[in-house]
Amino acid sequence: VSDPAPVDLRSDTVTRPSPGMRRAMAEAEVDDDVLGKDPTADRLERRVASLLGKEAALFFPSGTQANQTAVLLHTAPGTELVCEAESHVFHYEMADAAWLAGVQLYPVASERGRLTAADVARAIRPGDRHHADTSLIWIENTHNMHGGAVVPLAAMREVSGLARQRGLPIHLDGARLWNAAAAAGAELAELAACADTVMVSLSKGLGCPIGSLLAGPSALIDRAWSFRKRLGGGMRQVGILAAAGLWALDHNLGRIGEDHARARRLAEGWGAIDGVRVEPPDTNIVMVHLAAPGADPGAVAHRLEAAGVRVLPAGPARLRAVTHLDVDDAGIERAIEALGAALA
Ligand SMILES: Cc1ncc(COP(=O)(O)O)c(C=O)c1O
Repeated sequence: VSDPAPVDLRSDTVTRPSPGMRRAMAEAEVDDDVLGKDPTADRLERRVASLLGKEAALFFPSGTQANQTAVLLHTAPGTELVCEAESHVFHYEMADAAWLAGVQLYPVASERGRLTAADVARAIRPGDRHHADTSLIWIENTHNMHGGAVVPLAAMREVSGLARQRGLPIHLDGARLWNAAAAAGAELAELAACADTVMVSLSKGLGCPIGSLLAGPSALIDRAWSFRKRLGGGMRQVGILAAAGLWALDHNLGRIGEDHARARRLAEGWGAIDGVRVEPPDTNIVMVHLAAPGADPGAVAHRLEAAGVRVLPAGPARLRAVTHLDVDDAGIERAIEALGAALA
């Protein structure tokens, strides 16, 4: 009897396109999206713009490229972007804002990824000759490194109210906005209304192999097209990828709450193990602190891997596990047992 497939909790990006999604991709109507417009990409862009309540949207190969296009759209070299201290743009985009746009980041610490208007107000520069001008406010929702924490609509509105009062644009890194909306019981468009531009990913909870979109006012999204081209993100028969996105919106968006329920079950099971503290998950990301002195997350992840359960270290005494389409209830129970055995 062969070993069962590993329970892969490293990320919600590990999903494989389902047979239905692959069929939709194979059958997609396509055209050259750099010379003109690919009809399937066009349909996806209109659909996502409408879901987010924005005038337009543009398909990108990655969330990073869409985020960095937003930086280029809103800022000028030598200015400053205010973001949360554990945000993806600060830790995991390879100082792209500095490298591409000449922009410095001003990271602001927060409780579970929730920037407050007061925190942001303190970070906005006074506009004198000793400081760089603040050019952009950045929110991430859900917040990856705060364990998929939801930034509630009220907190988003507070920060966007301040940004608008100060005449500053605001970008929402909504790689997992689908999860935020489902968990907060909010409409995607209500959350998106708090920002001028919004990035959403298809390649995470929605289970697509590739793709993110940047949505916003038509004039900005027109300019975004040129930045995407410059960054090498112009793709030809991109309808093959966009078809996966349309399929995912029809079939996978409505079920995302199942991932949250499995994350809660995982947190409950792991939380009952001695020497472990689990951050209660809002959505599909479970952060586990190994309380035992000297418990090394790399070594524990290694033992879990040997037991057929994959997770990633996320700090000196922390592991991260993410639920998604390709993890079922039995996988969660195996992961619970495996951590107990790995720490025994
Ligand atoms: C919050 C957040 N923003 C942006 C990204 C970047 O997306 P991509 O990996 O498609 O570049 C990620 C990826 O994990 C993310 O978690």
